[in-house]
Amino acid sequence: MRESALKHLVCPETLRPLRLDIVEASGDDIIEGKLAGLDGPEYPVHEGIPSFVSENTLQTQTVRSFAQKWAKHGYYRTHTNKFYTDWYLQRYGFYEMSGLGRFLDGMEFILDAGTGTGRDATNFAEHSAATVFGVDTAREALEVALRDVCHARVAVVHADINRLPFPDAFFDFISCDQVIHHTPDPREAFENLRRKLKRGGRICCYVYKKKAAIREFTDDYIRQSISGLPIDEALEVCEGITRLGRTLANLNVTVDIEEDIPAVGITKGKVDLQRFFHWNVMKCFWNDEFDFFTNNIINFDWYHPEYCFRFEPEEFGAWFADGWEIEAWDVREAGISCRARKV
Ligand SMILES: C[S@@+](CC[C@H](N)C(=O)[O-])C[C@H]1O[C@@H](n2cnc3c(N)ncnc32)[C@H](O)[C@@H]1O
Repeated sequence: MRESALKHLVCPETLRPLRLDIVEASGDDIIEGKLAGLDGPEYPVHEGIPSFVSENTLQTQTVRSFAQKWAKHGYYRTHTNKFYTDWYLQRYGFYEMSGLGRFLDGMEFILDAGTGTGRDATNFAEHSAATVFGVDTAREALEVALRDVCHARVAVVHADINRLPFPDAFFDFISCDQVIHHTPDPREAFENLRRKLKRGGRICCYVYKKKAAIREFTDDYIRQSISGLPIDEALEVCEGITRLGRTLANLNVTVDIEEDIPAVGITKGKVDLQRFFHWNVMKCFWNDEFDFFTNNIINFDWYHPEYCFRFEPEEFGAWFADGWEIEAWDVREAGISCRARKV
């Protein structure tokens, strides 16, 4: 990480400045060293990544699940980049990359909270002049990000969004996309992010939406049975689910649901059979644009992490009731996206 970015990091406990001791550097890039607090705590910088994560986190299973996923699927980002970028632009009301660019104009510091392999962080850096910090608890994700991103203004930090090494009221924009529902207390995590945002700063946040009753039941049932499995076994279990998704999609059958069935949350209308099954009975993602392994990783990513909260739109909307001005609000079957300004 560049020394010019490192100097903004503070002790996550005391929020006081840290002293940088350099062991190895290449120009402005600090490769090995440590950040030391005035009153004791020390945080290593290893292979260019400063680390603030302790092993003893409530989220250990969820963190390991993502870490192993990113390590297994090194080409996830390149393979899915366009799909997820377009989805992001639509949900948050930017529509085109130029819309995102206009939104980011003049911003100085951006946080991609739970950056994964850094897709969104890269988009932010490429379409602004800001310094972009990509933070994640899964070190393996950041290693893939460093290998693939290499944008000079993206700085990756191994840290928890509940224990961020940044001053309060620091960021112009925080993006926390598809992350906060994996934390033990999403509302608390949201408030922790709010503290790091300047007044007038913006947030983009996405949470999973509650699904139809049978789908909710199946989600919990499968999660309970596979979240304790090692990654390879869990991936194997998911393969059956992924194949089912592919089989249903290949049928190309449309079903006509004649009327709403409120007892189980099913709504009327014509829908592809795989989509009907996926949204109402059991997540069995399939997209022909991706290879089998990627489709399977997407199903695994749903079922394996222990923490995976889902919300009603009203519940999530209540987070923004006080001290926020909502700029974009998008509810679809998968999840709810909100872009808001801190007032
Ligand atoms: C579904 S992935 C989404 C990654 C990225 N935002 C994207 O859209 O591709 C969730 C990511 O959040 C990270 N994560 C989960 N809990 C976290 C926490 N408490 N602090 C930081 N990152 C976290 C996981 O390690 C994982 O990389």
